[in-house]
Amino acid sequence: MKQYAVISDIHGNVTALKAVLQDIRQRGIDEILCLGDLVGKGPNSAEAVDICREACSVIIQGNWDENIVNEDIQLEEVLWHRSQLGETRLTFLKTLPFLYDFNIGETPVRLFHASQLGNRTRVFMNDSYEKHIAMFESTVFTGNHFIPKVVGYGDIHSVFMKNMRGKMLFNAGSVGNPLDINQSSYVILRENPSNNTEDFPDLSFIRVAYDIEEELRIAKRTGMPGFSEYQQELRTARYRGR
Ligand SMILES: [Fe+2]
Repeated sequence: MKQYAVISDIHGNVTALKAVLQDIRQRGIDEILCLGDLVGKGPNSAEAVDICREACSVIIQGNWDENIVNEDIQLEEVLWHRSQLGETRLTFLKTLPFLYDFNIGETPVRLFHASQLGNRTRVFMNDSYEKHIAMFESTVFTGNHFIPKVVGYGDIHSVFMKNMRGKMLFNAGSVGNPLDINQSSYVILRENPSNNTEDFPDLSFIRVAYDIEEELRIAKRTGMPGFSEYQQELRTARYRGR
């Protein structure tokens, strides 16, 4: 049975990314699919892009990947991360796709970063049933008749899974900036061996502890803006330390 690892929201945290990739390698996974937000927040956006390009068969664009190439955004933090990347990586980020549709066995699966409405429309675990079920619609993709039974996304940095009356919605959490517990997360998807087409693919949530203090030493040395918020988030898994 083919096995997929779904990773998301690396945010320039290469210490966490390497720990997750090592874990994935040990499990003999066939393909790694990435839901975006490779860059920003953490100190090593360039290396995160290079490693993901090498390791992942699919990379979807996240809101940070989109913002970092948007010249209209001139915030100090964005400028710092943009300056690390160079033209080739920026061009690569600009051309990333918005979604990825594929099948696991007979099951149609759709992956995107934040929601069916775009990278900037955020959907939380506690949002309404209507908001969650709308993620299976193709409202902005006319001409695309693919109807997913499983939808996976990232963006909120917190894992969850929900049975939506015969459809499955899941969030892969975050590799580099988790906001539920302070360990990297990713998801493994496998074809369900039961041969019952009503069954979902087999899904496992994996948590990987990594060396947070080593990552913070690396980040501090770069003098990056937003270091104290980054430190709070990595240590406490609470957004901006709240
Ligand atoms: Fe993110």
